[in-house]
Amino acid sequence: MIPVAVVGGGTMGNGIAQVFASKGHTVTLVEVDDKALGSALQTIEKSLDRLVRKEKIGDTDKQATLGNIKGVTSLACAGQPGLVVEAVVEDFEVKKRIFQELDSTCSQETILATNTSSISITELSAVTSRPDRFIGMHFMNPAPLMPLVEVIRGLATSDATSIHVQDWARALGKTPVEAQDYPGFISNRVLMPMINEAIFCLMEGVGTRDAIDQVMKLGMNHPLGPLQLADLIGLDVCLDILNVLYEGFSDSKYRPCPLLKKMVAAGHLGRKTGHGFYDYD
Ligand code: NAI
Repeated sequence: MIPVAVVGGGTMGNGIAQVFASKGHTVTLVEVDDKALGSALQTIEKSLDRLVRKEKIGDTDKQATLGNIKGVTSLACAGQPGLVVEAVVEDFEVKKRIFQELDSTCSQETILATNTSSISITELSAVTSRPDRFIGMHFMNPAPLMPLVEVIRGLATSDATSIHVQDWARALGKTPVEAQDYPGFISNRVLMPMINEAIFCLMEGVGTRDAIDQVMKLGMNHPLGPLQLADLIGLDVCLDILNVLYEGFSDSKYRPCPLLKKMVAAGHLGRKTGHGFYDYD
């Protein structure tokens, strides 16, 4: 078991902390203040309660998992973890400050990992003195349920770091898949153009919203249609990632659909705002 620090306890961070803690790792969860920390810990407890209700785990497992998580509100209190997984907001400057601080306080042996969906692993690793021990560990949402961890190697990530991280992912019951550090990695490089094309189909009247989603669900065996999935991810997040692909490759095939831009401008961001391609009132 390695001591783990998870920085950021939002949508992804609390799930990641739960995954490590449920497999017996001691986890220090770092949040910005007591309110955010309280909400992260409450989300973990609710998620464990759901698993108890479904009889996937027992009450003792729930208590053991919660007992493995210590919440703190300062990076200085993160202790000496063997692995740090950063899951704060998708903002290079915020992540840069966090990794610079971690680099100066953590032992040289500590592996620093980021859960970023779209920021370059190589660029982030370059703000530290250990680019060989820096890696992308991209959990999918919701982290406790989704089996994939995309492991992204920066230009200088060592073989040993990638092997350690893949072994840890397997020990969590996940399947690691290695990707190289290019915009969108594998997951969003393939997913986002599909979502974007579905939005173009809607805008051009090729099919209705329901027709587009049904074709992909019934014809391609996707559990959610691309427009339903876009609403789940958040249309603002989809737009941000498409812009990363568009700018990163300087290729017009990634240009975000004007309808997507219009919906984001209107604040119709999907499930989180109650309105997207579907209504969630
Ligand atoms: P979120 O906005 O839900 O959570 C971010 C959390 O970080 C917030 O709770 C915030 O209080 C905390 N935070 C901000 N600055 C901090 C600091 N200096 N120290 C400690 N905590 C701090 O964001 P979300 O969606 O969880 O995304 C986190 C990362 O995961 C991003 O890099 C995102 O690209 C990536 N990601 C998101 C997915 C998703 O479906 N939401 C899927 C896979 C990756």
